[in-house]
Amino acid sequence: MKTFNEITEILSLEIEKLNWQKSPEGLYKPISYVLSHGGKRIRPTLTLMACNLFTDNLLPAIPAALGLEIFHNFTLLHDDIMDKAELRRGMPTVHQKWDDNTAILSGDVMQIVAYQLISETPEKQLKHVLDLFSGTAIEICEGQQYDVDFEHRNNVEADEYLEMIRLKTAVLLGCALKTGALIGGSDFEDAQLLYDFGLNIGLAFQLKDDLLDVYGNESIFGKKIGGDILSNKKTYLLIQSLNRAVGADRMELAALLNISDENLAEEKIKGVTAIYNRLGVNKICEDKMNEFYCKAIAKLEKVGVQDNKKQELRKLAEKLMVRNE
Ligand code: IPE
Ligand code: IPE
Ligand code: MG
Ligand code: MG
Ligand code: MG
Repeated sequence: MKTFNEITEILSLEIEKLNWQKSPEGLYKPISYVLSHGGKRIRPTLTLMACNLFTDNLLPAIPAALGLEIFHNFTLLHDDIMDKAELRRGMPTVHQKWDDNTAILSGDVMQIVAYQLISETPEKQLKHVLDLFSGTAIEICEGQQYDVDFEHRNNVEADEYLEMIRLKTAVLLGCALKTGALIGGSDFEDAQLLYDFGLNIGLAFQLKDDLLDVYGNESIFGKKIGGDILSNKKTYLLIQSLNRAVGADRMELAALLNISDENLAEEKIKGVTAIYNRLGVNKICEDKMNEFYCKAIAKLEKVGVQDNKKQELRKLAEKLMVRNE
């Protein structure tokens, strides 16, 4: 069994080996730029850990693990355009450092490279892994479209939000785990349990991301605090606030949501955050996050491998719930 640190080490070496010193520079440089800033690399870590539950030979799962990380990074390039985000991993986003066209096209090529890598999966699991990946990639686009659609609606229900984050975020974690499990030789039942573990961890993970977007520390989180508030993102925090605010809070929240003047950005972030604090929606969001975390762990417990083999996945899941980055 490999430890979390050993898996991280394997992945950094493999990511460094990818060659982006190619022409045209304008296409490939942004890719090495974004990959060189790391990120937590959760998805490929999950793939290799899931594989490791069933075999000590992780080599066949490495291309798919890399493909999933590159795919995730592609979604970030496009997501940062859509969200008008200035910072990613503590550095200017690709569309800020270069321009939108660069982030679009470098993102496109990353998506294709992701497919190339995932296609290196051993023949025996190839069809299953590719179908899972393609389905997941489509779901992520669906989730991203709901996410932007919801910016323009003030009546988004909590269940609609949960479905949106299932699509935009959670399915990729499920996919990463299931891919590793299948390549490692697991049966379909265990592969599905690991998918469900990932899905629930993913839901909790996105709730945490929404919390950090308001309450995080910019230099650790690596993204601008308050970005979701500025785009009127219907996060769990905002939906619960819209459901609960009464009287003066209700009027103020409605007025704050109408602010689009960039000069009033700070005021909008401060005002909305103060309402969140008054209504205590951060606690409601944390409770929901813990609910999904517990569901996730229950799925992991059912996976039919020796209990001690699950320790690294348990530790990782726990770490993700208390993360600040
Ligand atoms: C960011 O993902 C996008 C979300 C799904 C919230 P991560 O938080 O995994 O980003 P990196 O890869 O570690 O930077
Ligand atoms: C990102 O959700 C989901 C995808 C990239 C598919 P967010 O928009 O919340 O992610 P961050 O906060 O920009 O990382
Ligand atoms: Mg987004
Ligand atoms: Mg974003
Ligand atoms: Mg976010």
